[in-house]
Amino acid sequence: MSRPTPLVAGNWKMNGLRAALAEITGMGQAYDAGLKSKLELLICPPAILIGAAADVARGTGIAIGAQDCHAKADGAHTGDIAAEMVADAGGSFIIVGHSERRADHGESDAVVHAKAQAAVRAGLKAIICVGETEAERRAGKTLDVVGRQLDGSIPASLTAANLVVAYEPVWAIGTGLTPTAADVAEVHAFIRQRLGQIIGKEAGGVRLLYGGSVKPSNAAELMGVPNVDGALVGGASLKASDFMAIAGVYR
Ligand code: 13P
Repeated sequence: MSRPTPLVAGNWKMNGLRAALAEITGMGQAYDAGLKSKLELLICPPAILIGAAADVARGTGIAIGAQDCHAKADGAHTGDIAAEMVADAGGSFIIVGHSERRADHGESDAVVHAKAQAAVRAGLKAIICVGETEAERRAGKTLDVVGRQLDGSIPASLTAANLVVAYEPVWAIGTGLTPTAADVAEVHAFIRQRLGQIIGKEAGGVRLLYGGSVKPSNAAELMGVPNVDGALVGGASLKASDFMAIAGVYR
């Protein structure tokens, strides 16, 4: 199977007021025809900005997404947002199972699995996140942990068209630390192979993103690793200049 079109995605987490939407305008200006032919760009702002971000991004080619959703389509779930609402607001992707949701909100693999199904039910693409903690890596359990998360979180019916997997080692998120290229290569090859057991032949076309302290200075090395089909970027996605410098490695 030919290599999938890379995806560089920004996860703004709980950052950004309406004024920050100007960064999306700046990204759109820098996302020229040459870059558009090489990769897809996505920004996942806080939920309350999804509709406004989709308006700002219209015509730029930049996709907008959510950082989470509820598994159900509607109902008595105060404070939650359905995948259908993300779609209605103009979103096209939903990040599910980010380690911050798993840790802060106790989300299990089963919950992540249900949320991924919800995203696809609403016609959107699910970005399912996996990754080990520092203690798990030190104990040599990285592949065990990632394998268990993949098995539990990924619905077998997903395809290359609606599934993206992000490998985000918890210890690399927001710390400035990154795994070596060899470590990323090992985990991504493992994810590709395990995905084959879960979803079959479609696994070859699924984008596998690396996330955790991606910045302009390390993006070329990380994006050059086999089986890395893009990045999930936190802090460096808040500024158009940094985010577009990362995307620029695909030029
Ligand atoms: P940082 O790029 O800030 O390390 O965050 C990574 C991340 O968690 C993206 O989802």
